[in-house]
Amino acid sequence: MSAPDIVIDARDVTLSLGKGPARVEILRGIDLTVRRGDTLALLGPSGSGKSSLMAVLSGLERASGGTIHVAGADFGTLGEDQLALARRGRIGIILQAFHLLPTMTALENVAVPLELAGHADAFALARAELDAVGLRHRTGHYPMQLSGGEQQRVAIARATACHPALIFADEPTGNLDAATGETIMDLLFARQRETGATLVMITHDAALATRCDRTVTLRDGRIVADAPSGDPLSGDPA
Ligand SMILES: Nc1ncnc2c1ncn2[C@@H]1O[C@H](COP(=O)(O)OP(=O)(O)OP(=O)(O)O)[C@@H](O)[C@H]1O
Ligand SMILES: [Mg+2]
Repeated sequence: MSAPDIVIDARDVTLSLGKGPARVEILRGIDLTVRRGDTLALLGPSGSGKSSLMAVLSGLERASGGTIHVAGADFGTLGEDQLALARRGRIGIILQAFHLLPTMTALENVAVPLELAGHADAFALARAELDAVGLRHRTGHYPMQLSGGEQQRVAIARATACHPALIFADEPTGNLDAATGETIMDLLFARQRETGATLVMITHDAALATRCDRTVTLRDGRIVADAPSGDPLSGDPA
């Protein structure tokens, strides 16, 4: 592939899981191109394949068919270890349930991935990152000592600390009240702009989707709409 400003290039991507009669076709031929610095909302009913698509585009799950290039790496040609390396430093992931390591402080949760990515000054960088998300005063706290909103701030700091080309967020405000969710979204978009990252965000919230440049709608494992956010065509035609 591909022009250097293309961060995601997915062609005819399929995903089937399970064996025999239990086999499920989860993704049924996804074509998706995302440019550097774009913000993309992924909408669609429960079970339509949003999280599965995120899993294959982030290299957490291997596609059953098709090709995926992310930030210059051809996922189809990489082994498991190489995939993990390709993710590291390139891709930041933020999940609904935060997924912080409970035995590590906020600072350690952010610093350890930086150390794994080979940053000698991981703890200094992690401190600066926690500062940027407004948690300077909570660096020594463990996840269970933090509120949901604070935990998601740590998760955002962890995801953006390496200045990844690509940030994936799966319903990042799904476990938060409306006001906290709004603050978290402001923060996520601010960090996205400041780091120049591309953002792919799964949401059930059509209003939230309009904050992204573009809205892609999935249904039954297929893209059924792909248009600038707010465009009448960006809705689900079904
Ligand atoms: N490991 C698995 N084995 C079999 N089927 C799976 C597996 N993981 C997901 N599925 C199925 O794939 C479909 C898509 O799931 P996915 O989690 O991607 O949906 P989603 O759009 O993220 O839904 P939600 O909005 O509820 O999070 C669902 O029907 C789900 O049951
Ligand atoms: Mg999901």
